[in-house]
Formats: sequence, C-alpha cells, structure tokens
Amino acid sequence: VSENSDNPHPGLAAVVLAAGQGTRMKSRWPKVLHQAAGRPMLEHVLQAVAALRPRRTVVVLGAGADQVRSALPPGVDSVLQESQLGTGHALAQAAAAVGSSAGEVLVLYGDMPLLRPETLRSLVEARGGAVASLLTAQIAGLSGYGRILRSPNGSIQTIVEEVEASPEQRAITETNSGVYCFESPWIWDALSRLNLHPNGEYYLTDVVGLAVEEGRAVVGVPAADPDEVQGVNNRAQLAQAEATLRQRIRQRLMLAGVTLVDPPTAYIDGTVVVGADTVVYPNTILEGRTTIGEGCVIGPNSHIRDSSVGAGCRVIASVVEEATLEDEVRVGPFSHLRPGAYLCRGVFLGNYAEVKNSRLGPGTEMHHFSYVGDATVGANVNVAAGVITCNFDAETQEKNATTIEDDVALGSDTMLVAPVRVGAGAITGAGSVVTKDVAPDTVVRGVPARPARATKTRGSPVAKGRS
Ligand code: UD1
Ligand code: CA
Repeated sequence: VSENSDNPHPGLAAVVLAAGQGTRMKSRWPKVLHQAAGRPMLEHVLQAVAALRPRRTVVVLGAGADQVRSALPPGVDSVLQESQLGTGHALAQAAAAVGSSAGEVLVLYGDMPLLRPETLRSLVEARGGAVASLLTAQIAGLSGYGRILRSPNGSIQTIVEEVEASPEQRAITETNSGVYCFESPWIWDALSRLNLHPNGEYYLTDVVGLAVEEGRAVVGVPAADPDEVQGVNNRAQLAQAEATLRQRIRQRLMLAGVTLVDPPTAYIDGTVVVGADTVVYPNTILEGRTTIGEGCVIGPNSHIRDSSVGAGCRVIASVVEEATLEDEVRVGPFSHLRPGAYLCRGVFLGNYAEVKNSRLGPGTEMHHFSYVGDATVGANVNVAAGVITCNFDAETQEKNATTIEDDVALGSDTMLVAPVRVGAGAITGAGSVVTKDVAPDTVVRGVPARPARATKTRGSPVAKGRS
C-alpha cells in the first residue's frame, strides 16, 4: 500500500470480474488465461489497472479458479464466486477483500485486453461527486451489450440488457461496456438491494437504476475508441484483440525508430525491446523477454524468443531460443540457437548450424551444417562443414562437455567424442574422430585421431582456409 502523495487516487481499489465459464471459447482452459499478443488476457487487464496504482486489486474467480489463481502476479488478491449468479453477485463477493478503507472501486472484466490505462483513469476522474461513472460505447445492431437509457434532459436513467430490451430500446446505440467506477461504501449497500432476474442472475447494471431512484447522479463516459471496450467471448474476437494489440506494439516501435519492412508480418510481443535503426524484415516473430540492440537486421523468416541480441547483428531465416548474441554477430540462414547458446562478438554462423548450451568465443566461425552442444569454444576458431560435438554418451546416458581452445581449426566432418579437449592452435584433419585430448599446436587426423606430426607453427595460416 503506497501512501505516496503523488498518487491522485489513494483510495482506489480495483475488482476484476473473471468467474465466467467462457463457454463460447470452446476450451478446457479458463477464458481469461487465453493469450493475446503473448500474454494472458487477464495480464493485460491487470497491467492497465496497475498503472492507476490501486491500494487493492481483487480478481473474482469461478470457473477454473485454481488455474487462474496460480497465474496472478504478486500483490493481486482473489476471491471465489462459488456459483455464477451474475455480475452483481460477482462484485459482492469482493466486498470483504476490498475492505472499508477504499473510497472508490473500479470494476472491469478480465476479458477486455484492449483497455488502456488512460481510459480507466478518465473514468475514475469523471465520477466526481456521483456514485458511479460508467464507460459507454457507440455500438449499433445486436451486440449483446446493455443499452443506456437516458432521460429527456440527457441524464442516465437505467441500463437495459439486450435480452430484456424492447425493439425501441434495442435501437439505442449507446451501450454499456461493463467498466465502472463506484463510490464506496455506497456500492456495497446497493448490491445488497439487487433483485434476482428471471434467469437466476443479479445484474450489476441494476445499481444504476437504484442510484437514480435515490436521486444520486451517474456519469456516462464515452470511450474514445469503441474497439478498446471490445470484450473477448470467442476465438474470432480473440484474434481481433490480438491484431489490435500487435498493431499498437508495431506503431510504438516504428515511432521509436525501428523499421518494419512489412508491419503486418512482424509479430512482436509487448515485452520485446528493439533498438533504433534495426530493420525487421517480413515474417519475423519476436517473443517473450527478448532484447534486440541497435542497427540490427532481423529476418526475413526469423523467430527469436527470450533472447538477447546485441547491436549490429544479422539474424536471417533462423530460430533463436534463450540465447545471447553479443554485438556484430551474424546468424543464418537456417541456423538454430537453442537454450544456453552464447555467441561472442563477431561470431558467424551459417547454414544449418546448431548451437546448444555452448559459448563460442569472439570471431569464431561455423559456416555449414554443424552441431556444437555443451561446449566451450575459444576465440577465432574455425568450425568447418559437418563438425559435430558427440556430447551424448548412449552407454551412460550422460551429456559430456567439449572444450575447444583459441585458434583451433576443426577440419570438415570432425567428430569430437566428449568429454574431450582440443588445445589452442591445434588442427584436426577432415573426417577425424577425436576421442582423446589434443595437445596445443598439434595436427591430428584419422579414426581415432592421432598426431600427424609433432607440432605446427603457431599462427600458421594452414588452418584458416574456408570451404
Ligand atoms: C454485461 C453487462 C452488459 C454489458 C456487457 C459488456 C450485466 C448484467 N450486463 O453483459 O450491460 O454491456 O457486460 O460486456 O452486467 N462474471 C462473473 N460472475 C458471474 C457473471 C459474470 O465473474 O456470475 C464475469 C464474467 O467472467 C465476465 C464478466 O463478468 O468477465 C461479464 O459477464 P458476461 O456474462 O459476459 O456479461 P453480460 O451479462 O453479457
Ligand atoms: Ca461478455
């Protein structure tokens, strides 16, 4: 609980209704855990709410409560609505958890991932001395939304649900988005006075009529962008929300100096950081906790997840997962960096190069169809075509480590049978099967590999020819 004087709404609490089954999703997962732009819908909602720094945030759970509860971030409370008796009943479940110290209560749904903090803030501010403010949207036609009924002088009278509305009322285009700010403790008393509807539900919307009967004002706040209040009820609407969220992310990145050559085909999560002057080519997916430095070229056809890419890198038609690239690294086409790959400055990976749980030192090159796993590779090593670290021992079922020191040249088709170490400046001949450690500056060849001659001159150019 922050008592900071710079918080304009120190008495604000938030309640997110998320107990509904979400039947139309046709899913075994709770609706609010379905992802839009890389994060559960509920997380988007909670993030928008958190921007207002409420003293308390309570999520009302029902269907799939255990799953949703375990997805809640720290500091967010939950209550259980045992049976889904409507939105009014759902909010009432949160009364004790919100507590009597709250002065106002923001209420919204867990399936509205497009809501922006600014919109919530303006709703809270618009309430003023009224007992409630509610967010409205202009939506024509059959929409499932409640209609806002106003008196001749323009003040809000009541909300009528579409199923209970007369044809004239259905023609009203001003609809209830389901986002409210209520005065507390007024709202808790009002909820206790709700009547049951014939469908067995208590409607939260009925508190508007109760307020008006008491002569208390209710303020309607039109949503600037009706898209923003679009709730997600089925997978088609989920796809629309996804598209809108992704477009917002692209817009933010482009205005921050990132070039997206074909914006609709750049799929970038909101959590991803991209530096200025980076160019993202078509069909590229950037996910999770990914950071891309300045001046990179990413794509076409690349997929990067939970990775750190330095400045001036190129990643073309490749997959990068939980990997780190320092500056000026070139990857692809058709490389696969798996978890724990760490490529130092200036590393060059070419076609069909796979690296897992390995560090490649500065300037090391690996141009064609090779596998390096559980290895530490030094600087300026040349890994020729077809080199493989045989890290898995089928007899012991263990993964073993390979160490390749600086300036080594591994000839084409070298098999490194781990655990094994190749000393600095050593050379392996084409087709070598290295089963024993190789001393520095030694040339080995054959199956199994044996020293071909005692030493080579350190730094000799013989090894650096590239196929
Ligand atoms: C509700 C409003 C309607 C508004 C619409 C906007 C009421 C009676 N109607 O419609 O005016 O236009 O939202 O989307 O409030 N929930 C619970 N527990 C329950 C019932 C619902 O937690 O017992 C949650 C659901 O998970 C959902 C939200 O409340 O997130 C709204 O429920 P939903 O059934 O979609 O609302 P509607 O009745 O269609
Ligand atoms: Ca709904």
